[in-house]
Amino acid sequence: YGYQMCLYQNFWCPKFSLEPVIALQRDFQACDTDIFVINMPKTGTTWFKSLLFSLFNRSNEGLLNTQLQTHNPHELILSLEITIYAKDKNPDLTKMPSPRLFSTHLPYDSLPESVKNSKCKIIYITRNPFDTFVSSWHYYSKLENVDNNVGCSSTMEEYFNKFCKGRSLYGPFFDHLMGYWKESLERPKKVLFLKYEDLKEDGVLQMKKVAEFVGFPFSIEEEKQGVVEDLIKLCSIESLKEMEVNKKGKCDPDFENKCFFRKGVVGDAANYLTPPMVERLTKIMEEKLNGSGLSF
Ligand code: A3P
Repeated sequence: YGYQMCLYQNFWCPKFSLEPVIALQRDFQACDTDIFVINMPKTGTTWFKSLLFSLFNRSNEGLLNTQLQTHNPHELILSLEITIYAKDKNPDLTKMPSPRLFSTHLPYDSLPESVKNSKCKIIYITRNPFDTFVSSWHYYSKLENVDNNVGCSSTMEEYFNKFCKGRSLYGPFFDHLMGYWKESLERPKKVLFLKYEDLKEDGVLQMKKVAEFVGFPFSIEEEKQGVVEDLIKLCSIESLKEMEVNKKGKCDPDFENKCFFRKGVVGDAANYLTPPMVERLTKIMEEKLNGSGLSF
C-alpha cells in the first residue's frame, strides 16, 4: 500500500513505525491536559493540525503567522509514532508547555493505557471512505520512485482492492473509525468526533465546538471580531498552499510539504471511481456502519 505494512494488534502498521509504536505504547505517559489529534491518514491531518495550532495561538497573531509561514503543520503538532518516537526511543516530553498537543494514527485499542484512562482529550477526524481512498491513492502513488522500500507500483484497482479488504495504513478503515465513534458516544467529554465534510461545510461551527471541547472557547468579543472566520481563512487550503514553506520545504526526507495539499474538496472520488467501485465500497460501508448512527 505504498508502504510496507505488518499486521500488529489487528491493524496495518507501517513497518518503519512498528518500533516507535511499541516504544510509545510502553513508555508514553499522558497528562490530563494533553490533547490528541487522531485520524486515519488522508482524512485531514494537515488541515486539522493547522486549525488546532491556530486555535491555541490565536491571541498572538504575529507569532501564529510566523509559525505557519515557517513550519509545515506536521512540524507544529508532532506525531507520536511518525516523528517523536521515530527520532528518539526515549524522548523527554515533560518539558513541553501545557497543553501538550500530539497527533497519532493509532487505533483506539492500541493507544497507551494512560491516554485512554487519563482526562486528556481526543479529537478524532474522519472523512468519507471514497475521498479518503482517492486521496491516499494520489499520495502513495507518488512514492513509487522512493528508494527505501516504501515505493510500490500498484494500479488504482489494486490499491482499491486492498482498501476494500481493510488493508490500508492503520486500517481497516472502518474498524479505526468505529473504535473512536463508540468512545465518542460513551465518553463525549473525552472524544470529539469530527468529519472532514462538516469542517468544509461549516468550519466556524465546528471550530467553536472544538474550542469548547478543549476548554478554550471563543469569547463573545472574539466572535464579534470575526476571529473564528479569520482562523478558518488562515488555515484554508488556498492559504496554506501559498506559503513558501509548503511550496518548497520538506518535513520528511521522502516527502515534500506540497504533497500534503492537493485539491482539498469533498466529492473528488466521483472523478476517479467507476460505478462498480462505488457500489462495492458503498456496500462495505453500509455493512460496517449498520446500526451505528454514523453515516457519510
Ligand atoms: P485530497 O487529496 O483529497 O486533496 P492528510 O493531511 O490527512 O494527509 O490529508 C490530506 C488531504 O487533506 C488531501 O486531500 C489534502 O488536499 C487535504 N487538505 C490539506 N490541507 C487542507 C486544508 N487546509 N483544507 C482542506 N483540505 C486540506
